[in-house]
Order: sequence, then C-alpha cells, then structure tokens
Amino acid sequence: MYKRLYAESVNTPERFWGRQARELLFWRRPFKKVLNWKLPHAKWFEKGQLNVSENCLDRHLTSGRANKAAMIFEGEAGDVRTLTYRQLHQEVCRMANALTALGLVRGDRAAIYMPMVPEAAIAMLGCARIGVIHTVIFGGFSSEAIKDRVNDCQARVIITADGGWRRGRIVELKENVDRALAGTPTVERVIVLKRTGHEVPMVEGRDRWWHDLVASQPSSHKAKAFGSENPLFILYTSGSTGKPKGVLHTSAGYLLQNHLAMKYVFDLKDDDILFCTADVGWVTGHSYIVYGPLSAGATILMYEGAPNHPEPDRFWALIDRHHATILYTAPTAIRAFMRWGDAYVKRHRLDSLRLLGSVGEPINPEAWMWYYTVVGKKRCPIIDTWWQTETGAIMVTPLPGVTPLKPGSCAMPFFGVVPKVLDEQGNDVPRGSGGRLFLAKPWPAMLRTLWGDDDRFRRQYWSELPGYYFAGDGARFDKDGYLWVVGRIDDVLNVSGHRIGTAEVESAIVSHPFVAEAAVVGRPDEIKGQALVCFVTLKNGIEATAELKEVIRAHVAKEIGSLARPDDVRFAAGLPKTRSGKIMRRILKEIAVGGVVKGDTTTLEDFAVVATLQAEE
Ligand code: WTA
Repeated sequence: MYKRLYAESVNTPERFWGRQARELLFWRRPFKKVLNWKLPHAKWFEKGQLNVSENCLDRHLTSGRANKAAMIFEGEAGDVRTLTYRQLHQEVCRMANALTALGLVRGDRAAIYMPMVPEAAIAMLGCARIGVIHTVIFGGFSSEAIKDRVNDCQARVIITADGGWRRGRIVELKENVDRALAGTPTVERVIVLKRTGHEVPMVEGRDRWWHDLVASQPSSHKAKAFGSENPLFILYTSGSTGKPKGVLHTSAGYLLQNHLAMKYVFDLKDDDILFCTADVGWVTGHSYIVYGPLSAGATILMYEGAPNHPEPDRFWALIDRHHATILYTAPTAIRAFMRWGDAYVKRHRLDSLRLLGSVGEPINPEAWMWYYTVVGKKRCPIIDTWWQTETGAIMVTPLPGVTPLKPGSCAMPFFGVVPKVLDEQGNDVPRGSGGRLFLAKPWPAMLRTLWGDDDRFRRQYWSELPGYYFAGDGARFDKDGYLWVVGRIDDVLNVSGHRIGTAEVESAIVSHPFVAEAAVVGRPDEIKGQALVCFVTLKNGIEATAELKEVIRAHVAKEIGSLARPDDVRFAAGLPKTRSGKIMRRILKEIAVGGVVKGDTTTLEDFAVVATLQAEE
C-alpha cells in the first residue's frame, strides 16, 4: 500500500495531492490547480477557498463529533478540564468575535505568549478563523526575544496570561510582556488570561482581561472563506545569523499534509487520545497539538507543566489517568526519563498506549530501545519523525505496521517527499556514506517565505544547490535505503530539542558591557543532545572571575530565555581565527569536548591562542 501510494505521490503529485485535498479538507470553493511551482515559490490549491478553523471545528459538529472531547487538559497542579468539539468551537468563536471587536482584520498579526493551557489553542484558532496571522512565542523566551519577534512582524495585539505554572512556581508571562512592550510601538492591545491569579499590573486602555473581553462575546461566529494560500502563521526559528527567521506557513497545504500525517503516520483511530508533549510555542505543538489532530477530529491531551513535577513520573501518570493511546515526545525527554530510572515508569500500567513517537533530534539507539522496551513494553511501534519548522509537517518517518523499524533511523519518506543525500558537488553520495540532506520536490506544508525577507529565504534554503531545498542537516542512507539524520551541519545547535543559533547566543553575550568577543559551539551532552559552550574574550582591564561566568550565563538567559543559558562559559585571551578573521569553530569544538586540537592549524592567526585555551582545561 505504502509503495503504491508513495509512487503515485512522487510520480503524479498533482493527482495524489488533489485527491487527498478533496477527500480530507472541507472547501468553500473548490481549487482549480493543485500546484503552481515557480522555484522557490509554491502555490498550492489555487483559487480554492476554505477556513482552517472551520476545518478544525465546525465540520466535526455535524459529523457526530460535537460531544467528543477535542481536548483533555491537565494543569500542573492537577486541575483537569475537558473541552468537547462543541465547547471548543464556542470558545474559538468568542475569541474570533473579540479580536474582531478590537478591530483586527485579515492579514493583521497577533502574538501569542501563553502557558500550555487550552486558551493557547483557542487563541490560535480564533486568529485563524478571521484570517489574522498568529505568531506564537514560546513561554520560555525573555522579554527581549518577545520584543524582537513582535517588532519583526509588527503585531497589533498580544494574547498572554498573568502567568503559567512550572515546577510549582509562577512563570511571569505578563511581566515579561510588559517589559517587552516598552519597545514595541505597533502593539495596541493586550489580552490577559487569568491563569495563576497572582496580582499583575493592568495598563488602562491597553490591557483587557480575557474573562471580560472574550468571555462576554457571542459563542457563534460565521467563518469567512479565505484563499488556500492565505497566511496562517509565522513561527520564528533560529538560523545561522543573530536574527531569528520568521517562517511563514499558509492555509490549505499546511493543513492537508498535517491531516494526512494524522491518518498515516499516527494511524489515527476515532478513540485515540494523543499526548503530544511539545509546547505550542514550537512547530510540533502547532502541527500535532492543534492543527493536525483537530482537523482530523482527534482527542488531544495537553499538559501544562514540567515532566518531573511533582515527581519524575508525571507523563506516565498522565497517560494512565487519561488513557492516552499515542505518546509523541522528544529524545531529550526520553533520555531524562532513562536517567531518572525505570521505577518511575513501572509504577504505571501504560496499557492504553499503542504508538510512540519521537521528534526534534536524532534519537540514539540506546534511548530508542529503552523507549521501546520500558515504555512501550515491546508492544508499541516507534515513529521517529524527521521534520522542521520550515517543512511544517512530518517528512520522513516509518509508518506504523508498515515499515520495519530500525532504532535510530527515521526510515522512509512520507508521501510526496523526495529526500536526497548529496555531496559538495551535488552528486548522490553512495549508500552508507554521509552527506548533506536536501529535498528534491515541493510539498504542501512547505514554508512559503521568511516574513519580510524573501532574499534570505532564497539564500538560506534554495541557493546551496539550485532546485533543491537545503535542510541544514547531515544524513546518510543505509544499504536498505533507510535515512539516518545525524544532526545540524550549520551553526545551529539542538539543545534539549530546541533550535538555538550560535550567532544568537554570541550576540547576546557581546551585548554585555564587559565582553569584547564571544564564540559559541556545541558539545555532545548525554541528556540535552548538545550543550552550549561559550568562549568569551573580555574587554581590557576586566577580570575573569567565576562570578562573571555566572553573570554572563544569567545575561544570556535574560536576553534570549533560560533555554539558551550557556552550560559552560570559558574565558580566553583571544579566539583562534583564520587570516581573514573568521573564528575557527572546528578548533573550538575540539577544545570544548576536551580533546586536543588535531588537523591543520596553519591558517591560525595566533598559535598561542590555541595553546592557552588548551592549557585552561
Ligand atoms: C532535528 C522540529 C533527527 C533536525 C520538528 C532538524 C531531527 C531540526 C528529527 C528541526 C529526527 C528533528 N531525527 N533529527 N527525527 N526531527 N530533527 O525546526 O536537525 O525545531 O533540522 O523542528 O531538528 O528542528 P525544529
């Protein structure tokens, strides 16, 4: 079945995708053309009209799912709420009406900075319903990061909460927004959900409580139809320069590929309960908490807090309590659970589970085996899904029950996807050898551009090898044609499944008044995948002290968010550079892992620098 459908999807993609789009989506006006591809710009399902929120909600009200749970939510303190499709629909209608009342119209941007609560999804779907482009900012980001993103997309509104719960403590979301708003001239209004109930200042005329503004709106709303290519959201992600990239996704193609992934990758059944542990601030949360599952009429389980609160068995308790059938999580979480010990898993039955998923980074075979044996009791297949913020939907993955599994390999391309592993000249590398990962064909959920920077879009993804999308990952095919993704080969690190650009951290460090220069590299880390090691040169006269290391770590957390807090800060008299002044990261990487510098160092400007760095060990 897979072989036949896959062949159709790559040989006659328009026939394949056209049929899927007609079958799986609800159209207000049928599309005329499946794909209009003018490299690097794709338009899918031209002339078609639909409403994404209607596809995720309204259509289920008449298909017998009105009283089915769309979302089961558990807060960190143990509070549980279930929203049926009907209830979720009503809340989203209220949100759409509220945003309209504030004067927002199609094409405007709204930023969402929320804890993991149902209202985060309600805000997203409320925006989608009226054609407002949302940008969700992960709740772990700092006010500086909020400011940059809001300014880049010129958001008119921010939807936030007083705070969220994390390990029993309050995350000060509103406070961070207030600080950011000192430098965001485009923001007119702030909608504030009361979540923690602690006191937060409200600015007269600007800030409105959710329970005043949204809750009082009518619970019905006639969704307008929008074109297939109407922008749905911008999601900022790290690249190899200091400025995050605003990845733009549009409506029909994005929704279709995610819906199709629900059907084939998650092999969705009507009684499934999907526990996706990602935050809605990341693309995994967009695609597999909100748009994919709801479009497919699934029940999702959403959890607000930390995996080890109050004890390191929280996920397992959640699964048993709510009878989750699918768990979709990240290797870094799996490795943390491994370290915390099997006993926490074994306290729970986990017999509702039937499928396990992994995403965000390569999963090492040891973690794979543990996940398979201890969590899945050797009953549940593991789908190791490779994809990116930019791809919008799962691209390479085994299909459960179809693809024989190999621990550590993400296996086979999803429908319509043609991955290539190529060398510097653009030739296929032989099976078993490593190369750079490219995609040879456009796909429905692909990013359409980078917000406000189409040049960067071309340069970043389409210039490495003309005609091919460059993923930024290193990979190899094995002798059976299975794909193994090794990790990033650009200046992007993957720390605990979070993409962090080294340039971003470097510019945060050098913004500290004591710092002259900084270089950031990754070092393999057992739990986090990669850890951040920062080499810092101080300004003349500044003394290198242990306290200053802490100050710099805290400074980065303040500038970006605690997810980017450096693991190591190391002071250096000078950084190793080539004659043209480029920092030699390869050498720093070798020093970071504690090894001796191998290879050719003749292009170094200052040999003494390497010697001193090594002596610092
Ligand atoms: C990495 C997350 C190996 C990869 C959906 C990619 C993976 C980056 C896998 C995208 C996987 C994601 N195996 N590596 N199954 N899934 N990656 O944008 O380096 O946060 O380029 O999207 O994560 O991260 P992003």
